[in-house]
Amino acid sequence: METRTQVGIIGAGPAGLVLAHLLRARGIDCVVLERQSRSYVEARIRAGVLEHGTVDLLTSLGLADRLHRERMVHHGIELLFERSAHRIPLTELAGREITIYGQHEVVKDLIAAWGGPLHFSVSDVSLSDLSFAPTISYVDASGVSQVLRCDVIAGCDGFHGVSRAAIPADVLRVHQRDYPHAWLGILAQAPPSSEELIYAHSPRGFALHSMRSPTVTRMYLQVRPDEDLAEWPDERIWAELRARLDRSDAGWSLADGPILERSVAAMRSFVVSPMQYGRLFLAGDAAHIVPPTGAKGLNLAVADVKVLADALSSFYATGDSAGLDAYSETCLRRVWRVQHFSWWMTSMLHPTGDDPFDLELQLSQLRYVTSSRAAATSLAENYVGFPFP
Ligand code: PHB
Repeated sequence: METRTQVGIIGAGPAGLVLAHLLRARGIDCVVLERQSRSYVEARIRAGVLEHGTVDLLTSLGLADRLHRERMVHHGIELLFERSAHRIPLTELAGREITIYGQHEVVKDLIAAWGGPLHFSVSDVSLSDLSFAPTISYVDASGVSQVLRCDVIAGCDGFHGVSRAAIPADVLRVHQRDYPHAWLGILAQAPPSSEELIYAHSPRGFALHSMRSPTVTRMYLQVRPDEDLAEWPDERIWAELRARLDRSDAGWSLADGPILERSVAAMRSFVVSPMQYGRLFLAGDAAHIVPPTGAKGLNLAVADVKVLADALSSFYATGDSAGLDAYSETCLRRVWRVQHFSWWMTSMLHPTGDDPFDLELQLSQLRYVTSSRAAATSLAENYVGFPFP
């Protein structure tokens, strides 16, 4: 079977779905293809911090009703080190708040509000003729081979997707940094023990206290990249969280409860450049990965597709391809700012073993960002996110 569309979107994560909605709002046709099932993508637990710009964009598309009802608005974060907590007042310093709302809740909202073509559980996706007549071949959920002819393909299929792999290797520059740690994340049926997120540096390693609702906490522990989850029974997870989040102020304690979900995620910084080849445009994790310490992954994906949707909209309205030609360059400016911030937060907060020099640098940096208004403002404006292009 052969069909035609203006924009073929590969991947129904935040990047692909936000792009689909942006294009529809501009009267541009698109088809979304997803390798996984709907229930899989709706249950995939990821981070949960939305920048003000992301919330504004979703709101302007009419996609944020549940978000506004259920989100938690935060005006600061805490940095905990040497057993003392220090607040960074984000809104006061940077003029914008952040929103706590799970990424998979965003995905559910975007899917529920999408009336257009969206095909789950497709397989054998391959891309061809990227220079002139981009085509996506795939097998649909009922086993029928399909050919989708497009003007443009948006590769929103994540780090392991087929889109980036369809670009000849000699065209791409890969920039990468691997870290000697991973995050063990849990979702627990327990009320948050703090009103705000706590990023904790401790001699035992980093820990993060986050949340999803007044009854659900989300927490992370720095572990080794090859960590075996089987070695982490519930009691060990709670004991380690208690030890790393321990603080000298009297009266603080960590509430626990049943663990609903757990996983280990590697940490990596990765950028591919350019983010385009012929009529294929990469967006989100297909083009770049940030370590989760800055909570930027989803927000960066949304910024990419905003640039792409604006460029496509002028292309279709006037035939002017300047925005499309500049896509990669426009996106990469923001990508590298966010890369630096995420690398910096990661380096400051994760003790790497017994190098006393590194440890002193981390503590010095933490004392500096929590005592200098200039340094705290720099952290705050990066954390809340710069305005979208
Ligand atoms: C989360 O709530 O999942 C979360 C929060 C902050 C981060 C990363 C993840 O930096």
